[in-house]
Amino acid sequence: MYPIDEAAPYPRNQWYVAGTGQEFTRDILARRILDHPLVFYRTQEGEPVALWGLCPHRSMPFELGQLRDDELVCGYHGFAFSREGACVSIPTSSQISPACRVKSYALVERGPWVWIWMGDGEPDHALLPDASDIGLGADPSGWRIDITEPFVMQARAQLLIDNLLDLSHLAFVHNKTVGPAPIALAQAETVREGSRLFVKRTMEDEPTTPFISYLMPDAGDRVWNELITDFYSPGLINAGGPWVWKSRPDGSRGEAVAKLNFVHVVTPEGPNSTHYFGVLTRNFRLDDDELSLAMAAQNDAVRREDIIALEAIEKIVDRHGDAKREISVKADEGALMIRRWMRKLIAEENA
Ligand code: FES
Ligand SMILES: [Fe+2]
Repeated sequence: MYPIDEAAPYPRNQWYVAGTGQEFTRDILARRILDHPLVFYRTQEGEPVALWGLCPHRSMPFELGQLRDDELVCGYHGFAFSREGACVSIPTSSQISPACRVKSYALVERGPWVWIWMGDGEPDHALLPDASDIGLGADPSGWRIDITEPFVMQARAQLLIDNLLDLSHLAFVHNKTVGPAPIALAQAETVREGSRLFVKRTMEDEPTTPFISYLMPDAGDRVWNELITDFYSPGLINAGGPWVWKSRPDGSRGEAVAKLNFVHVVTPEGPNSTHYFGVLTRNFRLDDDELSLAMAAQNDAVRREDIIALEAIEKIVDRHGDAKREISVKADEGALMIRRWMRKLIAEENA
């Protein structure tokens, strides 16, 4: 499957975002992740729960059932299941087979999201991405965090990962919404550090753009500006920028001004569709709700442009795309590194 030749198009042994914390309520939420039908809810104590989404009796989707205290009651014949997935009562039988159960999944609530482990064996907590450097850790103080509209994109996750690792597309896909952004076409520096990968573009001592002046009126006339893709994991990628520093009179990099982050959460729904969640974080104008609304509206428009592009590619890529023969340039360096790494992860999982 393009561009990864393995039968499985995404690694399983990773943490993926199942949803925002606000989506986990006392109502049953159904969502397909890694092609598994799942249901989510919260216990009366507020703990998030994830279970396989189909009843083991006759495959009724649990989303049509209801909660009874912390138990999930199937809407077809009333079998009830604990939060661990064990059948605990059957209205027409006093006998309950131990085989009458559904899988439950480990969840971790961190920052604005609930993360799910659907991998083999015990969850590997060391793999949970730590994005505390952009305000998404246990302590968000000093950051404004705005959850943006979630999308389901009819395109495979890898297309979105490729997209985020080559931000030169800002100048084309987003030329109407983002406007002129010469930094998008600057030479990128790509650095791999463990499982993290950074693709950084820097403008050194340039006149302050109107967008930076609008965001950060104190930036001054000349600034250093960075646009960065920070790949934390296959499920979490930050497109950071503008990240701004004042220029000193000699043109060197001076005092830090502020950072704005467009954080992209990529959760495969299935082989050909993707949950695309987002959050904006910034470390300036923390109480400015109008700025948040304006940035969220722009961000939604930008993401829709990506979705249009990637859904167009999805429709034809298996018939006509060929990762071995396609042309790549320097700006693809980060995406190619991550593709190789993802292929290796997937191959190891399936060995
Ligand atoms: S299908 Fe769920 S109880 Fe029968
Ligand atoms: Fe984009």
